[in-house]
This record gives sequence, structure tokens and C-alpha cells, in this order.
Amino acid sequence: MNPAMALPDSFTVIEHPLIQHKLTLMRRTGTPTTLFRQLLREISLLLAYEATRDLDLEMVEIKTPLEPMAAPMLEGKKLCIVSILRAGNGLLDGMLDLIPNARVGHVGLYRDPATLEPVEYYFKMPDGLAERDVIVVDPMLATGNSAVAAVSRLKRAGATKLRFVCLLAAPQGVQTFASAHRDVPILSAALDRELNDHGYILPGLGDAGDRMYGTK
Ligand code: URA
Repeated sequence: MNPAMALPDSFTVIEHPLIQHKLTLMRRTGTPTTLFRQLLREISLLLAYEATRDLDLEMVEIKTPLEPMAAPMLEGKKLCIVSILRAGNGLLDGMLDLIPNARVGHVGLYRDPATLEPVEYYFKMPDGLAERDVIVVDPMLATGNSAVAAVSRLKRAGATKLRFVCLLAAPQGVQTFASAHRDVPILSAALDRELNDHGYILPGLGDAGDRMYGTK
């Protein structure tokens, strides 16, 4: 990407020191699978905190030990977290620790190795998508093709209130995603330099799925 090219307003890097520290540990080549998974879970909890900042609250009547009061509560059932398989599941787990009532959807897309274009093989969502706040998760926003395809599919299924959360983003992925879905905010723990010829993020952390599950 031309370095002078501005990133879209819809893109935000969450520069919290805890996130940045944990991300550095994840990037290191010697970090074992167990620790990688644990760190991803911890970071996703922190990302979920940011991604849910503007969720609606409803007032409910409760009783404290001293008196009744109207107090704010989240309508957890209105939230849907959508994992782009398989690496999205690593972010999903931590988010569910924080928001256990959220509904969960899965989109299965694989990247055609020749064209790098996404091909859908699985799509399962809770009902009432149009009324839900939908958080789409995938650790790596690389070419952006899978994320664009997943969000397009979700919009066709009725979703209107969407946001996309990732761990690492490449400038190309951010531009591609924002060109297709300017209305969908992107939150990332970092913006890396570029993609290599195989569509991997540099400096990156390697293949997120492989590092998470100990596969090659
Ligand atoms: N997917 C990954 O797992 N890593 C990358 O760097 C790019 C896409």
C-alpha cells in the first residue's frame, strides 16, 4: 500500500498496553501452543471489552439489600458473535468468557490457495439476526477477502448492526474491507506492515489456526 494512503475512519487499533504486551508474546516464534491459546483468550476478552462499548442497556428493577432500584443491564441475548472458522474460534472463546449469554454463529470459508478467494462451506446462525448486534471475529485481516465475504453473507442473512474484530490487520485487508463495508467498524490489536506473496501478514505471527491448534 502507498504509505501516504490514509486508513479509513472505520478502522481502530486498540492500543491498550496489556493487549500489546500479550500480542508480542504471541508473535514470538518459540511461544508454545498452550501459551498461544491462553494469550489469545486473554486478548479477546480485552478486545470484547472495547467492541461492546456502545451496546444498548435496558433498565431492570432489582432490589439491593437496602432498597429497590432501576439498574442497567445488557440484553446479552441480543448479541451474536460470529466466528469465521477455524481461527475465529480462538477469539470467540475469550469473548464468551465475558459475555456468556451471547448467541454464536459460525461461517466456514476456506481460502482457495491459487486465487486467495474465499469459498463458503458452512453457515449457521441464530435466528433474528436483524435485531442483533453482530460481532464478527477472525484473528487475521490479511487480504480481507474472507472477512468481506463473511460480512456480505451476514448482510444477505439480515444482519444490519455489525462490527469486525481481529488481532492483526494488514493495510491491504483494511482497505479491501472498508471499501466493501464502510458501515462496519474494524477493531484490531495491531496494524502490521504488509502481506507476503502467499497472503500472510508481515511481520505477523504465522498461521493463526496452526499456532492455536498445533497443526501444520
Ligand atoms: N491467516 C493467518 O493465519 N496468518 C496470516 O498471516 C494471514 C492469514
